[in-house]
Amino acid sequence: STLPVIVAVDGPAGSGKSSVSKAVARRLGYGFLDTGAAYRALAWLALEREIDTDDPDAVTSLLDEFDYSIGTDPDGYAVVVAGNDVTDAIREPRVASVVSAIARVPEVRSHLVALFRTVAADVDSPGIVVEGRDITTVVAPDAPVRILLTADEAVRMARRSAELSDHAAETVGAHLAARDRADARVVDFLNAADGVTTLDSTHLNFDETVDAVIAVIEETP
Ligand code: CDP
Ligand code: CDP
Repeated sequence: STLPVIVAVDGPAGSGKSSVSKAVARRLGYGFLDTGAAYRALAWLALEREIDTDDPDAVTSLLDEFDYSIGTDPDGYAVVVAGNDVTDAIREPRVASVVSAIARVPEVRSHLVALFRTVAADVDSPGIVVEGRDITTVVAPDAPVRILLTADEAVRMARRSAELSDHAAETVGAHLAARDRADARVVDFLNAADGVTTLDSTHLNFDETVDAVIAVIEETP
């Protein structure tokens, strides 16, 4: 059987990775994999078990009981940890506030990278759009299409804030910037690696960004 085509998309928070990747997957009839959901799900489990998220050994030991599954349908995917549907819970601010500490543990990264490769290889469609921070560089460095989606920080913060109430929007900017700084110390998702196409969406609306990604895919031999 032929392996699915992988479209790798990385970028900072609020660049449009998930929403744009989902729309691209829908248009192409591809699967979609949100890799950040796995880091968030492990962070959710750490909070549930009340472990010290700054203790790498404690975080690593959680991997033994990390029974994780995620769907690849861009129109709706459930995130399940040990039988609990955490699809909504992993979006809570308490999860976002500890996820970077979870994601910097090397054992966590290697465990999840292996899992993402398996999910991508097993997808039941001609291709899959995989989005995250290290997809173009670590998870799928040989993918035929690799894109770094960027946008100016102020625009990214404004996009995220637009999804929230005024009250929440005030703190979201500071939190997002801090998370990006912490994450960027672990994987470089601010500079495109060799062969990766940078797509700056600062001056593009949502549909234009989707079209730009599709154009990169169509230009790929
Ligand atoms: O969508 P948002 O930018 O809020 O973040 P996410 O994609 O849901 O990722 C949540 C967190 O998971 C990030 O802040 C990183 O700490 C981590 N992550 C990672 O380390 N590597 C990835 N490939 C994806 C996410
Ligand atoms: O996954 P990531 O954190 O990179 O971003 P997202 O959650 O997909 O996108 C954040 C918000 O920006 C969403 O509400 C998108 O609809 C919006 N967006 C936009 O307004 N214009 C774009 N060119 C791209 C995304």
